[in-house]
Amino acid sequence: MSDKQIVTIAGGGSGYTPGIVLTILNHKEFEVKEIRLYDDDPIKNEKMEIIISYILEKGNYNITFKRTEDPKEAFINTDFIFSQIRVGKIEMREKDEKIPLKHGIVGQETCGLGGFSYGIRSMKGFLKLVEDIQTYAPDAWILNYTNPETIVAEAIRREYPNIKIINACDMTIGIEEIISKSFGLDRSNWIPIYYGLNHFGWYDSIYDVSLGRDIMPEILEKIKKEGIDVSGEEPSWAQTYENMKVIVENFPTHIPNNYLEYYLYPNLTIKQTDPTYTRANQIMEGRLQQIDDTVERIKDGKATDLDYESSGHGQYIVDIAASILHNKNDRFMLIVPNKGAIPNLREDAVVEVPSYVNAKGVEPISLRFNIPDFHKGLMEAQVASEKLLVDAFFENSYQKALEAFTLNQTVPNASVAKAVLDELIEANGNYWPELK
Ligand code: G6P
Ligand code: MN
Repeated sequence: MSDKQIVTIAGGGSGYTPGIVLTILNHKEFEVKEIRLYDDDPIKNEKMEIIISYILEKGNYNITFKRTEDPKEAFINTDFIFSQIRVGKIEMREKDEKIPLKHGIVGQETCGLGGFSYGIRSMKGFLKLVEDIQTYAPDAWILNYTNPETIVAEAIRREYPNIKIINACDMTIGIEEIISKSFGLDRSNWIPIYYGLNHFGWYDSIYDVSLGRDIMPEILEKIKKEGIDVSGEEPSWAQTYENMKVIVENFPTHIPNNYLEYYLYPNLTIKQTDPTYTRANQIMEGRLQQIDDTVERIKDGKATDLDYESSGHGQYIVDIAASILHNKNDRFMLIVPNKGAIPNLREDAVVEVPSYVNAKGVEPISLRFNIPDFHKGLMEAQVASEKLLVDAFFENSYQKALEAFTLNQTVPNASVAKAVLDELIEANGNYWPELK
């Protein structure tokens, strides 16, 4: 690979794009000569073009920049694709959240049936994206954080088992950062062992290099006694981290991924959610409004410093790219086909485990221990229901979709599964393949 890279951001119109671009611009080990924004929505893409052009001009960067809605232009000769597409955009996220809630069950973008609704849309959109990338840039690396990640990664595992893709999620970093901040610790000293599915896993240990021991037991005690410090968090994230205390009080042996709240305490999360104003509505008035406001200020000549900064989200993805580029063997939690990484879990599951990243791609570690039955049982049910969903997608099978929905851990019985499935078929229209 040449020294300076070409990067294409797929889903360029997203509110995360400025943070990612700023991270790229500030990163010492990832030099770019060209940034491309690709989106199928010209209006969103054009707004982001205005913001990114402003950032590049203001900082006097000597970087070629373009926005395009044409896949050929987006991908030809590119080195890296960062994918953050959201098929159906925020309007469909709102439906994913609100429709299950109407039926009294969890309504969330990546968990429960909202996640399944999004999962079918995402498979369709992401497979098309990968097809285009394989046509125009088969040698490029795809760094994917398109949700819901386990479902998307399972579809890719089946259709394109050998492509250059890395599936990554920032949630474990988010958890480690807030724990470090809460208890005055320094996560740069940590070697964590974590296992699970995406947004569905547990820490097994956190070895602190400076102390020379596993500090997870102490962290668990602190979470139980003091809870996590949520000052400075947005209210819905603060609530999520507060709920981790509830999980740890009842299951005190492992630090959980916060998303397990939806599977272990669905009633609590439902009670904490306003079914008429969900996270999608908060984002419409927050992150998305911020795009329009910024564009307005730039057009009026009133912009000076923008309210954007390099993001944790972007940092993670650019660090992975740098680790490939410079063969650094840095370690990340990544989403990979199991193939024995978790020895007592089916090998065709897609799991999230510590992995090293180098010029060859991802080298996941094998845990070399069996995970506890409680975690294994929960994961197996989740893997089976997600696999059935992916089957439903590829086979156009209503029956498989109903089985997937019924098996989902947030669903109390088959009649609720069917009612929500039927409503989501209506709501998704052409975003879903026809299920017969
Ligand atoms: C975390 C998860 C992402 C998810 C995001 C949602 O970062 O790891 O997978 O997309 O949260 O955040 P939002 O602000 O959109 O609710
Ligand atoms: Mn995630």
